[in-house]
Amino acid sequence: MKTAVRVRTATPADARAIAGIHVETWQAAYAGIVPDSYLVNMTVPRVLQHWRAILDDPNNIETVLVAEAHPRGERRRIVAFGSCGPERTSRLGYGGEVYTLYVSPDWQGEGTGGQLFADLLARVHKEGGKTAVVWVLAENPARFFYEHMGGQAVAHRRTPFAGEPLRETAYAWPDLAGWLAQMRG
Ligand SMILES: CC(C)(COP(=O)(O)OP(=O)(O)OC[C@H]1O[C@@H](n2cnc3c(N)ncnc32)[C@H](O)[C@@H]1OP(=O)(O)O)[C@@H](O)C(=O)NCCC(=O)NCCS
Repeated sequence: MKTAVRVRTATPADARAIAGIHVETWQAAYAGIVPDSYLVNMTVPRVLQHWRAILDDPNNIETVLVAEAHPRGERRRIVAFGSCGPERTSRLGYGGEVYTLYVSPDWQGEGTGGQLFADLLARVHKEGGKTAVVWVLAENPARFFYEHMGGQAVAHRRTPFAGEPLRETAYAWPDLAGWLAQMRG
């Protein structure tokens, strides 16, 4: 790993850094998967509005975590973020859902995503969720990351992006307590 990252709860002051990583990772990871017209319209100011609305609202049910790195000789900066909360559709009957997980491209493959994902599932569990789910674009190689983290494919759906229906797969963790105990060794 390049340097240890510290995971903490996001504050409203983190909205800009989160929006920057959100746009950067979508445009890098989803080119050729999500229609170009959708990605071109995904600008930092637009995405910033979304995150400001969440982080400025003290009653929001979405928990947002950031991973901060402080490389030697450089300033501290946010290199990844993720969010979770109750299952959004309630249709699958899982206690919690990981809504987002994005690691800045130059920090991927360094252990950050795995650490942040475990912290998100720990947060779901702390809030009373015994099970969790995450929806991933079926063509996104990140789905193998979720398989590697023990997720089981349990459902499929089509979601429109710029009018184009894209296939998504749901991965589930049916026993969060057991999974967390195993992760903590
Ligand atoms: C997917 C993502 C979150 C993973 O984060 P990361 O920091 O790159 O992953 P880590 O380095 O923490 O990897 C943790 C483990 O998962 C494995 N892994 C990571 N990406 C993987 C992949 N695409 N396929 C299979 N295994 C993968 C690693 O080998 C590692 O295994 P180990 O613990 O046995 O050594 C990150 O690459 C990312 O943000 N990708 C682009 C955006 C995206 O698609 N996000 C998911 C949206 S649903």
